[in-house]
Amino acid sequence: MADSLANPAGEHVPVMLKEALDLLGCKPGGLFVDATVGLGGHAQGILERIRPGGLLLGIDRDKESLEKAQTRLKPFSSSCRLLHDNFKNLPLILNNLTGESVDGILLDLGVSSYQLLAPERGFSFQSDAPLDMRMDRTQQRTAADLVNRMSEGDLADVLYRYGEERLARRIAAAIVQERTKAPIARCLQLTEIVNRVFRIRGHQGIHPATRTFQALRIAVNEELEGLEEFLLEAFSFLKPGGRIVAIAFHSLEDRIVKRAFRRLAGLCVCEAPPELCTCPRQTLACLITTRPVTPGPEELALNPRARSARMRSLERL
Ligand SMILES: C[S@@+](CC[C@H](N)C(=O)[O-])C[C@H]1O[C@@H](n2cnc3c(N)ncnc32)[C@H](O)[C@@H]1O
Repeated sequence: MADSLANPAGEHVPVMLKEALDLLGCKPGGLFVDATVGLGGHAQGILERIRPGGLLLGIDRDKESLEKAQTRLKPFSSSCRLLHDNFKNLPLILNNLTGESVDGILLDLGVSSYQLLAPERGFSFQSDAPLDMRMDRTQQRTAADLVNRMSEGDLADVLYRYGEERLARRIAAAIVQERTKAPIARCLQLTEIVNRVFRIRGHQGIHPATRTFQALRIAVNEELEGLEEFLLEAFSFLKPGGRIVAIAFHSLEDRIVKRAFRRLAGLCVCEAPPELCTCPRQTLACLITTRPVTPGPEELALNPRARSARMRSLERL
């Protein structure tokens, strides 16, 4: 969610671009996957490094973003294939498309600043727009569906689990009370409900609705479901020496990436004392980053939205 910076050509500059490309080990002739192509910023960087002879497969579940990426990546069209799909289908896609192992897979997770800032997409608590939040607008379920149909208990669980919202129960109760008067259809309606809860309870720091909107977005797009299994399966499509680079934007996501990578590297993931650890220890990969890479002060000065980015990488043995 941190790719809002524009270069002199007006194109957005993705988060930790050089670091990501270096970690991915892009080389001429390579076969790479950008599983979250977004507006094509990282993809362009990969394409510049894999020519001549390389191929990039770019995937995004957001058609509008993909169209923008297509325009940006036009000069590279002979080295690039773009697909509208969920990256969780990557094993199927790779089997159908090439059947080949790949040199690297990039995942820049979460929502793009284009999605966040396009008011009609309904991701922002500041938008006077329908409460939508679908990355893939061919999907049926919107944030309004969740807010109007979930039970109070389930809503509270979503807000607590995905937003780490300490007032989850109170906000869920306020939502349920409000929707008995009229459906909650617009972003600002929800923002106002959350604001009222915080006005009573008091708050400091980030906007009170930030966590509620994050939680609903994660739930609508099922962002965390199956992510660990996906990483483990995608890994099996890497050539020996091939790498996965994953950029996460919140701690829940980063924890899943860290866990999957540690598992593949044959390290403990159960956090039990060593004498009690029963983790299966099969070393299939090595960690390229033992600690997450974060944006440097220069990047943060230009793009404060990058502050929560955490990048990890591993290499298949
Ligand atoms: C942070 S942006 C990526 C920005 C991109 N790296 C760039 O340079 O423009 C994340 C993108 O991932 C897409 N996305 C998130 N989850 C996805 C999934 N499961 N399958 C496919 N695309 C997904 C979103 O639609 C969004 O466009």
